[in-house]
Amino acid sequence: MERIEKILITKEQIQERVKQMGEQITKDYEGKEPYMVCILKGSIVFFADLIRNVDLPVVVDTMVVSSYGNSTISSGNVRVKKDLAEDIAGRDVIVVEDIIDSGHTLSALTKLLRDRKPSSLKVVTFLDKPSRRKVQFEGDYVGFKVPDEFVIGYGLDYDERYRNLPYVGVLSLD
Ligand code: IMP
Ligand code: MG
Repeated sequence: MERIEKILITKEQIQERVKQMGEQITKDYEGKEPYMVCILKGSIVFFADLIRNVDLPVVVDTMVVSSYGNSTISSGNVRVKKDLAEDIAGRDVIVVEDIIDSGHTLSALTKLLRDRKPSSLKVVTFLDKPSRRKVQFEGDYVGFKVPDEFVIGYGLDYDERYRNLPYVGVLSLD
């Protein structure tokens, strides 16, 4: 049976960092109307907090994608289960993800979105697990770097549970 082994990032640390990230985006996109994309379901909690810290006329949208996650296949493999509602050509798109692990999902997804000719495309990730990278990919805005452990909470799940925890914890799976 799994259990929460320790708290890695507290609720207070998250709130502070998300506020900073929102302020940074507000500065970087001054005069623009960013098209912010929540990658469901993992980034739902982070997204909701982040957009409330962006003081700009943002447009929000959602996407559901699944990556094949197989390092032997090229990184262009992502299945779009639910697509964006609008055409992003000429828009300033900001993709918001929960965590970059192998990098497969985002490297494939950004390739797919770039083909739609946005004016700009950046990636915000709440967490980054650089030690697990299979394909080279860096987020433009990174909330926290985490060690190679299975983390849950603040949107991240284990078997669809724990998403509602207000902190990030490490799950022990023994
Ligand atoms: P990537 O394509 O390997 O970068 O996978 C990213 C996806 O795997 C994320 O969007 C998460 O849904 C999931 N994931 C990766 N690591 C973790 C973790 O430690 N806890 C929960 N979900 C994770
Ligand atoms: Mg998941």
